Amino acid sequence: MAGWVLLNISIMCFLLLLSGFPSYSASSKLLCNPDDSSALLQFKSSFTIYCTSDFVNCRPPSPTASWEIGTDCCSWDGVTCDTMSGHVIQLELGCGCLHGQIPPNSTLFHLTHLWRLRLDSNNISGELPSSISNLQQLIYLDVSWNNFSGQLPDVFGKLSKLTFLDLTMNNFEGQLPSSLFDLTQLSNLYCSSNKFTGPLPENITGFSKLTELTLADNLLNGTIPFWCLSLPSLGTLWLNNNQFTGHIGEISAPLLRALYLSGNKLQGSLPESIFDLENLSVLSLSSNNLSGQVNFHLFCKLNLYLLSLSKNRLSVNFEYSENYIFPRLARIGLSSTNITNFPKLLTQLERLEYLDLSDNRIQGEVPKWFYEIGKNSLTSLNLSKNLLTSMEQFPWNNLEHLDLSSNLLSGDISSSICNASKLEIVKLSRNKFTGIIPECLLNLSSLTVLDLQQNQLYGILPGSFSKQNNTLTSLNFNSNQLEGPLPRTLAHCTMLKLLDVGKNQIKDTFPYWLQTLPELRVLVLRANKFYGVITDAKSNNSFPKLRVFDVSDNNLSGPLPAAYIRNFKAITNAVQEESSLQYMNNVFIEDTAGVIYASYEDSIQVTIKGVDMVLEKIITSLAIIDLSNNRFQEKIPQIIGKLQQLKWLNLSHNKLTGAIPKSIQNLKNLESLDLSSNMLTGEIPAQLSNLNFLSVLNFSENHLVGKIPQGKQFNTFSNNSYEGNVGLCGPPLSRKCNNEPSGESPPSLISHNEEKIGFSWKPVAIGYGCGMVFGVILGYRVFSTGKPQWLVRIFGGELNRRARRTRTRSRANHGRMH
Ligand SMILES: *[C@@H]1O[C@H](CO)[C@@H](O)[C@H](O)[C@H]1NC(C)=O
Ligand SMILES: *[C@@H]1O[C@H](CO)[C@@H](O)[C@H](O)[C@H]1NC(C)=O
Ligand SMILES: *[C@@H]1O[C@H](CO)[C@@H](O)[C@H](O)[C@H]1NC(C)=O
Ligand SMILES: *[C@@H]1O[C@H](CO)[C@@H](O)[C@H](O)[C@H]1NC(C)=O
Ligand SMILES: *[C@@H]1O[C@H](CO)[C@@H](O)[C@H](O)[C@H]1NC(C)=O
Ligand SMILES: *[C@@H]1O[C@H](CO)[C@@H](O)[C@H](O)[C@H]1NC(C)=O
Ligand SMILES: *[C@@H]1O[C@H](CO)[C@@H](O)[C@H](O)[C@H]1NC(C)=O
Ligand SMILES: *[C@@H]1O[C@H](CO)[C@@H](O)[C@H](O)[C@H]1NC(C)=O
Ligand SMILES: *[C@@H]1O[C@H](CO)[C@@H](O)[C@H](O)[C@H]1NC(C)=O
Ligand SMILES: *[C@@H]1O[C@H](CO)[C@@H](O)[C@H](O)[C@H]1NC(C)=O
Ligand SMILES: *[C@@H]1O[C@H](CO)[C@@H](O)[C@H](O)[C@H]1NC(C)=O
Ligand SMILES: *[C@@H]1O[C@H](CO)[C@@H](O)[C@H](O)[C@H]1NC(C)=O
Repeated sequence: MAGWVLLNISIMCFLLLLSGFPSYSASSKLLCNPDDSSALLQFKSSFTIYCTSDFVNCRPPSPTASWEIGTDCCSWDGVTCDTMSGHVIQLELGCGCLHGQIPPNSTLFHLTHLWRLRLDSNNISGELPSSISNLQQLIYLDVSWNNFSGQLPDVFGKLSKLTFLDLTMNNFEGQLPSSLFDLTQLSNLYCSSNKFTGPLPENITGFSKLTELTLADNLLNGTIPFWCLSLPSLGTLWLNNNQFTGHIGEISAPLLRALYLSGNKLQGSLPESIFDLENLSVLSLSSNNLSGQVNFHLFCKLNLYLLSLSKNRLSVNFEYSENYIFPRLARIGLSSTNITNFPKLLTQLERLEYLDLSDNRIQGEVPKWFYEIGKNSLTSLNLSKNLLTSMEQFPWNNLEHLDLSSNLLSGDISSSICNASKLEIVKLSRNKFTGIIPECLLNLSSLTVLDLQQNQLYGILPGSFSKQNNTLTSLNFNSNQLEGPLPRTLAHCTMLKLLDVGKNQIKDTFPYWLQTLPELRVLVLRANKFYGVITDAKSNNSFPKLRVFDVSDNNLSGPLPAAYIRNFKAITNAVQEESSLQYMNNVFIEDTAGVIYASYEDSIQVTIKGVDMVLEKIITSLAIIDLSNNRFQEKIPQIIGKLQQLKWLNLSHNKLTGAIPKSIQNLKNLESLDLSSNMLTGEIPAQLSNLNFLSVLNFSENHLVGKIPQGKQFNTFSNNSYEGNVGLCGPPLSRKCNNEPSGESPPSLISHNEEKIGFSWKPVAIGYGCGMVFGVILGYRVFSTGKPQWLVRIFGGELNRRARRTRTRSRANHGRMH
């Protein structure tokens, strides 16, 4: 009995001890160094913290882990202490919650025992202070995915222990500091996606242990220095998407596995030594200015998995290559490499995933043996821009991206294409395909882009757009011979951004039921047989994002659709929701290194000054309304003046009556205004001369009267803009107004201008074919230099850069670079 009591007491004491010991220890002796603790709290307090959860790990805050005064900082989330000294040695804050700057006197730099610091993925802006050099024990420093800007401080002499440095995805600019290149312990250096400029130093003393160097997506220039291609430990080198020039020097990095040099301005031939890099598995040289002949079999010594030579001035020769084996080769980019035949070598590539032979000179039928390659592995096939005449099968069940556009392919589209149930991008445009569209194609569950424009497809547009998981963003059927009404199931495509059925034989009333599509930006119904009155918008949220509305060349009648016009929010809103520099719909599929496996950009045909043109890329600031060549009647509604972002307005060739509404003066962004061939009456509102961007104006063939407004923009238009209005007078017409003293000949500026317009538009029509957008830009530049900025910008450097950066951000989401 006594024994039992004793045992009981000792158990209780033990339990007491168990529960009492930690709290006793925590309250009287914190492990954490008190200076470090207050430094951390001050550091935290200098930021705005945007999150509801725990700010370190993005999970609900736990009582022990939160950063509270009086608790042991060594137990805080993201903090690790030295167990002996209590100093903070590791700090990892990666929840994306910290917004703000790190001032030079930040208490962060009091944590001198830190050897690992990660401010991974926050929103820290401003400069990285040079006082970071206080942290001399740092081995691991990661400030990637923030918004740091300015120069990188030249302090790496003090940070000589660094082995890992990640600056990816910030806005650092200027030269990389020279002390960086003296680091001898560094094994990983990531500087991609910043704005670093200037050349790399010619000679360096460090980097002997460097295994990964990424400088991709910057503005670095000059030649690639010798040391860079001969580092003894280097495994991967990413210099892609910079401005490097000159030749690629001889390469002697024995451990090199991946070399990314694409998207630079490198020239000359491939260095001989490249063919001896037996450890090389990725070689990406696309989009440079390299030239010369490449004998493919020379790559046989390498351990290639990916080879991209696309878009240079190289000529690839496959002679003898069948006699060599390439056991791992799976991704091949040979666009624009002067190839005339399908290389037989492909038959041995059992793991082929990606094949781009676009923009070559391959002609005739696709050979039978080609249908055997990569049957279960191929995911991307690009044969566009060749001279192929027939493609009978689609045996690749795992195919996701198929581009056969711009060939001479004829015959039916085989419904076996639907066996590739994972298809996302299908481009069969600009061929001679005939027959009907296989119904199953529209029902593929992953399809996002279907481009069939410019073929000879006929029959009724099939109606099997699936309600479930409809991922379609682009549907282009332009320039075929499709008939019938539009299938009502199109309304299931709730992610659709572009629908172009222009230039077909579609007979239907206006598809008001598309008004609910929340993402639709481009609707082209032109040159079909749409008829009847455009019924009123059913809600005041119709076509909320529409910016291109082209129903020209149909049989539509009744008044202009004022209710819809009022609701075009994306054209009326003064504040644009998207950056005007972005494209409306583009798809880039690329790996973490920026090698593009598939890309798609919407293109549409537009008519300006009676010339049909293709806009190869549609930027978000484009806004077009074209209702021309119908039978619309009655007045132009005043409400049209609400479309403040409109660029091109075409109401010509209708039966419109009444006066030109004064509200048109509010269309401050208007560049082209065509009201010709109507029955408009009254005077031209003088206020229209304030439309500063207007460069195309056509009021001809109406019943307008009175004096043509003078001054500003109106001084640049010629007679053609007004002819066929018997009541108009004043310059540039020779007809004098009654109350005017004497006639004057048009200023010479006008005829000069007109001459230039003539010169600029003709080449557009003749010279460019499908790449006409260049012509548009040239045209604009000639007759209205500097005015329509949005057009000029399409090919401006700024845009390319932005587009690339956006892309990089999204792609880097998929996988980190290391
Ligand atoms: C840093 O300096 C600013 C003034 O430049 C001062 O207001 C702030 O209190 C200082 N912070 C610390 C932690 O010393
Ligand atoms: C970053 O912070 C700025 C303000 O400092 C804010 O405008 C911006 O939206 C934030 N960015 C992100 C991605 O949270
Ligand atoms: C980054 O900082 C700059 C100012 O340095 C600011 O204009 C920009 O909006 C910031 N970007 C983000 C994504 O917060
Ligand atoms: C770089 O080193 C080479 C050989 O070691 C030398 O000839 C050259 O002058 C050096 N260049 C610079 C800029 O120091
Ligand atoms: C590199 O770019 C800078 C501007 O960032 C320019 O001043 C310099 O001349 C360029 N150098 C070379 C070699 O192209
Ligand atoms: C390939 O790498 C191995 C070590 O992995 C190395 O021993 C060999 O020398 C390398 N080959 C070449 C040609 O440098
Ligand atoms: C490409 O290289 C050639 C010399 O091989 C040069 O004449 C040409 O200007 C370069 N083109 C570009 C776009 O850099
Ligand atoms: C393309 O290849 C042909 C031989 O097929 C050759 O004559 C021609 O020079 C090559 N063109 C270029 C630009 O290398
Ligand atoms: C498509 O798949 C079906 C059944 O899965 C099969 O019978 C047919 O042969 C396939 N067609 C082609 C061309 O592979
Ligand atoms: C479309 O797909 C659904 C299920 O994914 C299927 O039930 C339907 O039969 C398909 N329609 C056609 C025409 O293939
Ligand atoms: C639609 O997507 C959901 C979730 O992604 C999936 O569970 C469902 O099976 C899909 N339905 C069809 C018909 O593909
Ligand atoms: C196919 O190649 C062409 C020409 O190189 C390119 O413009 C197009 O974007 C590629 N198609 C896809 C789907 O990637």
